[in-house]
Amino acid sequence: ISATNEFCEAGIGYGESGSRMSSSSKILIKGGTVVNAHHQVVADVYIEDGIIVAVRPNIRQVDVDAVVLDAAGKFVMPGGIDPHTHLGFEFMGTKSVDDFSTGQAAALAGGTTMNIDFIIPIDGSLSAGYKAYEEKTKDSVMDYGFHVAVTKWDEDVSREMDIMVKEKGINSFKFFMAHKGVLMLDDEQLLEGIKKCKSLGALAMVHAENGDAVVEGQKRMIELGITGPEGHDLSRPALLEAEATGRAIRLASFVNTPLYVVHVMSSDAMEEIAKARQSGQKVVGEVLVSGLVLNNSGLWDPDFTIAAKYVMSPPIRAAGHDKALQAALSTGVLQLVGTDHCGFNSTQKAFGIDDFRKIPNGLNGIEERMHLVWHTMVESGQMSPTDYVRATSTECAKIFNIYPRKGAILAGSDADLIILNPNSSFKITAKSHHTKSDTNAFEGMTGKGKVEVTIAGGRIVWANGELRAVPGSGKFIKMPPFGYLFRGIDKADANYLSASRAPVKRFTSSA
Ligand code: URP
Ligand code: ZN
Ligand code: ZN
Ligand code: ZN
Repeated sequence: ISATNEFCEAGIGYGESGSRMSSSSKILIKGGTVVNAHHQVVADVYIEDGIIVAVRPNIRQVDVDAVVLDAAGKFVMPGGIDPHTHLGFEFMGTKSVDDFSTGQAAALAGGTTMNIDFIIPIDGSLSAGYKAYEEKTKDSVMDYGFHVAVTKWDEDVSREMDIMVKEKGINSFKFFMAHKGVLMLDDEQLLEGIKKCKSLGALAMVHAENGDAVVEGQKRMIELGITGPEGHDLSRPALLEAEATGRAIRLASFVNTPLYVVHVMSSDAMEEIAKARQSGQKVVGEVLVSGLVLNNSGLWDPDFTIAAKYVMSPPIRAAGHDKALQAALSTGVLQLVGTDHCGFNSTQKAFGIDDFRKIPNGLNGIEERMHLVWHTMVESGQMSPTDYVRATSTECAKIFNIYPRKGAILAGSDADLIILNPNSSFKITAKSHHTKSDTNAFEGMTGKGKVEVTIAGGRIVWANGELRAVPGSGKFIKMPPFGYLFRGIDKADANYLSASRAPVKRFTSSA
C-alpha cells in the first residue's frame, strides 16, 4: 500500500513529485467503451476533484496537468460495489483477518470501489455497535456504507433503529434466522423488526436458514461421529435455507414491505424468490461469488486446512446449484452479486479441528468478485457487459438509494471506476492476493478479463499491478431511506385498507 517510485515510472504519466501523484485531481480516460447498466458507448471520460465531469467522444485535453489514460479496446465501467462484507468482524471467538484498510485495499486491487459492511450490535445495542464500527473505519481506503444487524428485540432496539435511519445514514437492517443463541431472532422478533423497517422506509434483510433445525442437524452429525467440515455441509441442507427464505418472504408479504435475501446459496432458496417475484412481491435476491463459482466438493477434502476454508453459512452447495444461480443472475431472478467477505487464517479455522461447529464461518471474495463474475458470466456469454455493471454495481446503488452518485459513469457521479482489459487474464492465488488470509477459497482459478486500473474518489489507486491506497481517504456514504423498492407500497396499503370490510353488524337470534 506504500507509495513507491516504480508506480510513477510505470507509464501512468504522473508528474515528477510524489505529492503530486496522490493529489493529481484531473484524469482523462481516452477511447474506452464506457459501460453503464443502461447503455454502452465508445467515449472519453474526464474527471476532476473526485467527480466525473464529462462523458462524451473526443474530449480534448485542456489541462497539461491531467493524467491521460488510454483505454482503447478496453471497458471503462463503474467500480464494483460489494453489498455484503464483514471487515474486522468479531465472530465465533475470533475476528475476521481483514480490517477496513486491508480488506478495502484488496477490493481496490480487484476493481471494487465501495463496500457495504454489517454493523454488529454490542450486547444487542445498535448505537454501541455503530460507535465501534466508526472506529474500525478510520483508515478506510475507499468509500463505504453500513447495514445494521438486529440481534435482539426490545423497545430500546426499536428506538435505536429510528436513530440509525434518521441520524446515522442507515437504510437497511439484517435479521439472522440462524446462528442460534448468538445472533438469531425468533419469528415474533423478526416480525416486529420487519414492521419497524417498513415504518422507517428501511430495507429488511434476512440471513435465511432455520436456526433451530440447524442445531438439530449439527447434533445428528456429532452423534454419527461426523466432526469434520463435511458435517457442516450435511447438518444444514438446502431445504432449511429454502424454508427460512419462504418464511421471511411470507412475513414480508404479510407486512407489505420489500425484502432483501442475503447470500442465496441454493436453487431451492432461489426458487422461493422467483415464485414471490412472479407473484409481484418486491423481493431482492443477492448471490455470492462463492455461490456462483464453487461447489461443496472442497468441504469433503481430506486435508482439514483445505476443507475448513470453505466453511461458511449457508453452506456452498453441491454442483448444480452454482449453475442454477448463474442462470438466475443472468435472467434477473437474482439481482446482484456480493461476497460475504469474511476471511480467516488457517490457524483460526483450526479452532474447529475436532468439531466443525467451531470452525469460524466465512471466506474471502472482495478482491476476486469482479474478475470471477466477468469470467463466469460475461466470458461465458451468459451476461452482457451492461448486465455485468448492473449486477456488480448499479443495482446495489439503486437498492440502497445512492444512485447515480454511485454505480454510474455519468457527469456528476463520483469518480469510482475501473478499466478492464477483456484480452488480459487473471490468476488467483494466496501467494499474490492482497487480502490478509493465508488461504484463498478460489485458489488457482484463472480467467479472462483483467482489471488494469482502478480509480476511487478520483485517485488512481491500482494500476500496472500496483496498489496506492491512501488510508483515511474513504468516506462514509449516508444512505437515505425510502429507496425505489418502497415506491408503490403506500398505494398498495391504501388499496388494502379500502378493500377491507367494516366489521359485520351482528345480532343474536336467541330471544
Ligand atoms: O458464514 C458466513 N456467512 N459468515 C459471515 C456471517 C454471515 O452470516 O453472513
Ligand atoms: Zn512500487
Ligand atoms: Zn449471513
Ligand atoms: Zn454475511
